[in-house]
Amino acid sequence: MLYDLKAKIEKNQQLSASVYYLELSMPKIPAKLKPGHFVHIRLMHTNDPLLRRPLSVNRIVERKLKNKIIRNIGIVYKIVGKGTNLLKEMAAGEQVDVLGPLGNGFELACLKPKQPIILVSGGMGIAPLVFLAQTLSKAIPEKQITAFLGMDTKKNLILADNLKKLGCAVHISTDDGSQGFKGYVSELLEKKLLKLKPNELNPYIYACGPKPMLKAVGMVAAKFNLSGQVSLDEMMGCGIGACLGCVIKTVDLKKQQPFVYKRICKDGPVFGINEILWEE
Ligand SMILES: Cc1cc2nc3c(=O)[nH]c(=O)nc-3n(C[C@H](O)[C@H](O)[C@H](O)COP(=O)(O)OP(=O)(O)OC[C@H]3O[C@@H](n4cnc5c(N)ncnc54)[C@H](O)[C@@H]3O)c2cc1C
Ligand code: FES
Repeated sequence: MLYDLKAKIEKNQQLSASVYYLELSMPKIPAKLKPGHFVHIRLMHTNDPLLRRPLSVNRIVERKLKNKIIRNIGIVYKIVGKGTNLLKEMAAGEQVDVLGPLGNGFELACLKPKQPIILVSGGMGIAPLVFLAQTLSKAIPEKQITAFLGMDTKKNLILADNLKKLGCAVHISTDDGSQGFKGYVSELLEKKLLKLKPNELNPYIYACGPKPMLKAVGMVAAKFNLSGQVSLDEMMGCGIGACLGCVIKTVDLKKQQPFVYKRICKDGPVFGINEILWEE
């Protein structure tokens, strides 16, 4: 069920130089909201930008209000351009228009019992993976989750502590070596996978981040014969599958054509780890 709701801003707090945490309360949170879903946000006080901006659900927050438990949606967003610059100026009590939940979300049913889970993020790709870790740690408390977080530099690193609090083992890479492994997160992942013992159950990978990083993670997964899912980031128009502005070439799973186009907003943003035909 798709909702178009007016949501009240409960918090809009700065987390780092360019990243903010937005908490929204709304008349109802869709029951079927799952990790990997995103919402399409429209600023109601201006027509510029006209188009909505897609942002992932980062967490569900439970708060006690007059002896009632209410559930808010948390979003973590980076200041990129006009829309996010305007959003950061908004104060608690103001409203935004929220369309969602959108996209397919991560699939959890494919996990085998006791299968270890690996989360891999590049930059803001960490945002939906926190909701995924939150959901997994609630649903399967004994789950072993290891997170590999890639960032350009230490001062931009966010949400690592949230993952640790959820029980994840966290490994960090930075491009400049200011924290953790120096290099790409895909290289760090490969280094750790090389240490897997032959009798260990193969881990399942969930990744989110920029396309080159997801391509590299897909290559590592293929090398170790691992399954998983990747969540793609793309500029979007409608967000509901109508404008075809977000298509990407994917493997034809029916093996009838060299490739098929899929819409990242509607068929994705989550795809099989080796389903995308990367062109860059
Ligand atoms: C499914 C999905 C989930 C997302 N979740 C998050 C999230 O949780 N947190 C977060 O910070 N961001 C997220 N994004 C990215 C976010 O939507 C964009 O950063 C945002 O729309 C930028 O809006 P703006 O008006 O500030 O920038 P604009 O003025 O629209 O753009 C400024 C510059 O950034 C580039 N740009 C804009 N959007 C993107 C994009 N999606 N990918 C690459 N380049 C882009 C433009 O080409 C332009 O050069 C997500 C995107 C998608 C598709
Ligand atoms: S953004 Fe319109 S079809 Fe995906």
